[in-house]
Amino acid sequence: MADKRFHLAWFMNFTPDEWREPFGQGGNPWDGQFYIEMAQAMERACFDLIMIEDKLMVPETYGGSRDLSLKHAMMVPKADPAPLAVAMGMATKHLGVVATMSTMAYPPFMLARLSSTIDSLTKGRFGWNVVTSAEDLMAKNFGMDQLPPREDRYAMADEYMDVVGKLFDSWEPDAVVLDRENGIYADGSKVHTVDHKGRFYQVRGPLNTVPSPQRRPVYLQAGASPRGRDFAAQHADAIVSVANGVEGMKEFRADIRARAAKIGRDPDDIKVFFCITPSLGETEAEARARYENVTMSDNFVTDVLISISAITEIDFAQFELDKPLPEKLVTNGESGTLDKFQQWGSGKTLRQLAADGGGGLVSSLELIGTPAQVAQKMGEAMAEVGGDGFLITTPVLRVSRRYITEIVDGLVPELQKRGLTRTEYKHQLLRDNLREF
Ligand SMILES: Cc1cc2nc3c(=O)[nH]c(=O)nc-3n(C[C@H](O)[C@H](O)[C@H](O)COP(=O)(O)O)c2cc1C
Repeated sequence: MADKRFHLAWFMNFTPDEWREPFGQGGNPWDGQFYIEMAQAMERACFDLIMIEDKLMVPETYGGSRDLSLKHAMMVPKADPAPLAVAMGMATKHLGVVATMSTMAYPPFMLARLSSTIDSLTKGRFGWNVVTSAEDLMAKNFGMDQLPPREDRYAMADEYMDVVGKLFDSWEPDAVVLDRENGIYADGSKVHTVDHKGRFYQVRGPLNTVPSPQRRPVYLQAGASPRGRDFAAQHADAIVSVANGVEGMKEFRADIRARAAKIGRDPDDIKVFFCITPSLGETEAEARARYENVTMSDNFVTDVLISISAITEIDFAQFELDKPLPEKLVTNGESGTLDKFQQWGSGKTLRQLAADGGGGLVSSLELIGTPAQVAQKMGEAMAEVGGDGFLITTPVLRVSRRYITEIVDGLVPELQKRGLTRTEYKHQLLRDNLREF
């Protein structure tokens, strides 16, 4: 029988949980324990990986102030994903842990060293979500007045990938000899200077860490613009995307695979994950009522607008909530996300846009129903698209233990029963788990 399986991943961030709601955990996750237990739940359900989103600023675009972001705990406070990835990785055995790090923030040497260290600590389960940042506010925290244009950020990122690649390869795989009898730890002839002198970066090398189990972390990417898609197709092991329904998913995956094939990569080495936000209930009516209860609330609409304002640096507080947007908006920030959000030409009001698709930002498909109904629909969509996986999250990335349980103990068993997702791990390395099917 043909293997129908697809991959599962989870998208979250190191911010307060669903702190305002009745099933929240209190909004104080800073010792990491809540998220460590979350990772353990993902592992129980045989997810490939958990991915930690990140931004490097306090948002102040919505309403021209940081007050509402702080009041709502929306995109702030946000703690560093790398130490959380370590904590999650050391409390699990099989799950991949992925941290977002921006090429605009980390010097390449630091990123390569940090990634190599985490990959060793997690015995080959580390992934890096490669982002190029989207905000002038972020740029101002790193010595710039404003963020360079998208084209330049991607040109820098191309060179960045080249540099970190050279650093990861600066130790040959068998450079560590560990020969106690002859007193040789590492063989100097197998550790090489990099001497990279490029347009943007100058790095001597070699790296000062040993080759980690995967040599380099698994690369995740979320390019959506044509330039971003080329970048992702060239470098990524996995691509995360928010698409418009089954047709949009099909188009995106075919496009990425074509771009990869054109530059000589095997398209099967790249797994495309589509973002979804399932809303579950004991009956379909209950699931729909819960979904509407969340997405139609004023708090939710404000959360979404704070968030979209932050990542596009367009102040959505200037637009009337119950009217359509006055013009098609453009950004030097996350353009793909903006285009998905604004549904230009739909005639929908801003409030409807915010509510749509569970916030419009992170949902590729409407999935509302019982676990069995949602599992069925996920299987049908994936069969139509041809692969490769789903990235589960919530509309504004807030989670509760209840929601995690609904997915892990409600939805996933229904997926497994249908032969759609993994029931055991076969490999040690995250990259091998991704390439298993
Ligand atoms: C599922 C998903 C997760 C993302 N995570 C982050 C993130 O953690 N940090 C960030 O700065 N950008 C993040 N992005 C934005 C992308 O890196 C990218 O900038 C965006 O999709 C726009 O693509 P473009 O740069 O080609 O216009 C994410 C996008 C998606 C779809």
